Amino acid sequence: MSTRTPTAVRSRASLVLDWLLATAYLAHSWVTIVKARTDRALPLRDELRGWHFLVGAVLFALAAWRLWCWWREERGLRPGTGVPPGFWLWGRTVALGILLILVSAPVLGLGWGWGEGMRLHLGPIPLPPLVGESRGLWQFSGYFHSSAGFMITLLALGALLVAGWGKLVHGHGLFVLLPPGLAAFVLVAVGATVYALATFGGPEPGLPALGLFGGLIGVVWLAGALLHRGRRAPDIAAQLPRRGGPSDFPDRLVPPALEQRETGAPGPGAVARVLAPVAAVALITLGALGPYQQFRVTPWPRGEVVQVEDDRVWHAEVQMRVQVMPESAFERQVRDELYKWCTFCHTVSAGDRRFKVGPNLHAIFGQQAGTVPGFHYSAALARAGREGLVWTDETLAAYIADPQRFVPGTSMIVSSGPIPDPAVQAAILNILKRDTMPPEAIERVRQAPDAAEDQSSAD
Ligand code: HEC
Repeated sequence: MSTRTPTAVRSRASLVLDWLLATAYLAHSWVTIVKARTDRALPLRDELRGWHFLVGAVLFALAAWRLWCWWREERGLRPGTGVPPGFWLWGRTVALGILLILVSAPVLGLGWGWGEGMRLHLGPIPLPPLVGESRGLWQFSGYFHSSAGFMITLLALGALLVAGWGKLVHGHGLFVLLPPGLAAFVLVAVGATVYALATFGGPEPGLPALGLFGGLIGVVWLAGALLHRGRRAPDIAAQLPRRGGPSDFPDRLVPPALEQRETGAPGPGAVARVLAPVAAVALITLGALGPYQQFRVTPWPRGEVVQVEDDRVWHAEVQMRVQVMPESAFERQVRDELYKWCTFCHTVSAGDRRFKVGPNLHAIFGQQAGTVPGFHYSAALARAGREGLVWTDETLAAYIADPQRFVPGTSMIVSSGPIPDPAVQAAILNILKRDTMPPEAIERVRQAPDAAEDQSSAD
């Protein structure tokens, strides 16, 4: 069978691998999104982490195998007749970029988990630790593991935009720009990001956002199809295998030959050859800045450290007593929606050595800012502490209201956004007291202290 069908230039293995990659990436995105939203205290979280690693390992194997096929098959490929060469080259560059990221991200993920001293497992199968606990390894691999998600999304978005333009201008869309399985991969990658962003604060409005995304794709596709109605037929006719006898397929059902081995067709010009890799590297670099943008983390620890004799990483001395109010329904809501972001970056109890982006907050009330042993503080916060900044209700409220405004140059960012509302601030501080102060430093009150004060001044 030597008929040059549109797909004959790639092996069946490549085509199947591409579709498997799209499917595995969908599974991986789903597990990852659910895991991130599952309470840390639940055993389900650990179970989901195991599945996250297992599907990650599958992605690694598929992508490595696909790269091997790429190495053997893609040399000497040319865009098919009627496919703009620059457009085609951009698709190939994006595809290669995505595959390379897909093989590196799982390796970084392992480094992240092992660096943290976590017991990893692939689904139910335990993984022996190959490297010991290390803050440097944790931070470096954690940084680039999470930036891999940003990189893939940006590359996929770049592919999608060019495909939309191609559909409208040339009548060729995503499934011509990229091999079909990888085109599906791009839709999955961008769709998963849309869903994740739409459900950042809660379960809504994930599905409507996905529907909007699908609708937009449909509109562009339809517009392109209408604009180029009738244009495809001659294109296709020119490319159908001419082996005598009528083709088995009506012309319009056969997609154009996207790629060919012959050298007759014009290849991409010099400009496209430079532009495609430069644009891909630019998107990847932008993706690499993602974790810094979103969480102000850096790939390695920077800044000022307070050293102590032992290797303690929390405040040993309690500096003040605090008043804690009973938990209200509003406070529970704040805990679920906002406070969880504080504990995303901070451990709160004494003795908790887990690495986090921010310092341990045990007994934080009454402490001089920037003095948790072993943590790398920004020069700005360390200086503010030396100049007398002490954490009280007022200073903490001002800090979470807008960290950059209160301590310009601090490396803290509140992922859910600044918290200017005094009622929300009060709820967060109340939770923080309950979670970070030892019981002997807590005085439980029945009423809000302001209400009590109002009463006493009225007396
Ligand atoms: C994206 C990560 C992140 C989030 C989310 C976050 N923090 Fe921080 N936090 C940090 C970092 C990093 C620092 C150190 C800042 C510096 O060195 O300038 C810090 C510092 C602090 C400090 C000062 C600690 C000290 O030792 O002086 C307090 C208090 C604090 N955060 C409370 C909170 C609260 C409350 C929340 C939730 C509203 C929160 N943080 C959310 C990363 C985060």
